[in-house]
Amino acid sequence: MPFDPAVIRASFAVVERRADHLAKYFYAHLFTHNPDVRELFPAEMAEQRDRLFAALTQLVLRLESPGELTGYLRALGRDHRKFGAAPEHYPAVGASLIAALRHFSGHSWTPEIEKAWTEAYTVITQVMTAAAEAVPDSAPAWWEAVVLERRRAAPDVVVLTLAPGRPYPYTAGQYLTLCSPRVPRVWRPYSIANAPRRDGSLELHVRRVPGGLLSTALVNDLMPGEHVRLGPPLGDAVLGPRSRRPLLAVAGGTGWSRIKALLEQLGPELDHRPVTVYLAARDDADQYDLAAVQRLVDRHRGLNVLLAAPETGAGRDAAAALVRQSLSGHGDWYGWDIHLCGPPELAPELTELLLGLGADPALIRNDPGPETFNRTRPLTSSDWFLDLRDVPWINRTDLG
Ligand SMILES: Cc1cc2nc3c(=O)[nH]c(=O)nc-3n(C[C@H](O)[C@H](O)[C@H](O)COP(=O)(O)OP(=O)(O)OC[C@H]3O[C@@H](n4cnc5c(N)ncnc54)[C@H](O)[C@@H]3O)c2cc1C
Ligand code: HEM
Repeated sequence: MPFDPAVIRASFAVVERRADHLAKYFYAHLFTHNPDVRELFPAEMAEQRDRLFAALTQLVLRLESPGELTGYLRALGRDHRKFGAAPEHYPAVGASLIAALRHFSGHSWTPEIEKAWTEAYTVITQVMTAAAEAVPDSAPAWWEAVVLERRRAAPDVVVLTLAPGRPYPYTAGQYLTLCSPRVPRVWRPYSIANAPRRDGSLELHVRRVPGGLLSTALVNDLMPGEHVRLGPPLGDAVLGPRSRRPLLAVAGGTGWSRIKALLEQLGPELDHRPVTVYLAARDDADQYDLAAVQRLVDRHRGLNVLLAAPETGAGRDAAAALVRQSLSGHGDWYGWDIHLCGPPELAPELTELLLGLGADPALIRNDPGPETFNRTRPLTSSDWFLDLRDVPWINRTDLG
């Protein structure tokens, strides 16, 4: 490895408490020195200003074993074509990253530290740009799709059916990023809720997040006939190739959408392969797609679906407790393929439990892989006191 990860970690510890200011400085530097780059970013950056910056710093910090992140970085590089990121932009972003770090490190910044950050950034850039350049010219940077249908499945959830204008190849279990002209240049990830269909249509389940830029527009305003853009498919939480192992899936909220795609993909296999699905919801009303669940259960006698919906008002902790209790009651999960899908805290919580119950870590799958894809930078303890933020949770209907 050309750089020393310990040098990078130690230098970041010096500035981490001021990461908010660093992010502001980073973007100000980037846009001042490269005014043309501003138009690649969303107009509204107050809430999410450290999306790219957080990803950059977290990725560099996680670069202990570069091989581990290569697959993710390749996908990220291909995906960046949709933002209009070109090879010449990468040195500009790198220069602003170093300028921000240098500015806030004061006297602790040394040539050795600058060299380590530059080398780490170069490794990331090389993987991303090589992957983007390897994409055949015929492959689009994004797909135009038209909204065929919208169904309100719950007060804050819509099920959208989209028709991409050209073939959109993906595997059940993947997600895509979507952008609507209603909120230009704001891209957000959504799980694809169906296995590939003959007519190429795609289903997405979108829940409105209070104050959310894109989800509010999609749930409140998006209408059939409107066009949206889709980024390339992402994620590797797909079915294990040729696996005949029993399968456990745990879904929370709209996390059901990815599990639905996997069940559709399994199709007739569901009749002779043990499959257990837990659907966790805060209450009955939160089970927004019960008709689809019922159809699958009716069709496949071997499919075992358990709904974990506590008393109305009991909240998500009660739903999570029900699931944990039932998973523990089952005993040993050794040898099961396991898929976890839901709000960000679901996978880490249940992974720990299931590993304690014998599950094989190599058989547990969840999205989105490196946490860098999540929007918010991990907060330090002082940030928590100074700037309490909401914990991201897909199912926050109770917050209005
Ligand atoms: C791999 C992956 C798959 C996803 N699949 C789905 C899906 O199938 N259906 C779906 O509805 N959503 C899904 N999400 C969440 C989705 O990508 C967006 O985060 C969500 O729609 C909010 O976007 P927004 O632009 O409306 O909110 P933003 O403008 O990004 O955020 C507004 C405020 O809400 C907070 N916030 C952001 N996201 C959430 C959240 N999920 N829950 C609670 N608070 C939040 C932010 O911290 C911020 O304070 C998925 C996320 C990932 C990473
Ligand atoms: C090594 C370099 C880079 C890394 C690791 C990186 C990583 C990321 C990640 C993880 C995201 C968040 C994705 C999402 O939430 O949808 C992101 C967003 C973005 N990146 Fe990059 N990126 C890099 C370089 C660049 C460059 C060179 C450009 C072009 C100027 C660019 C433009 C963008 C834009 C426009 C966004 C969306 C920002 C937003 O929604 O607020 N990135 N980047």
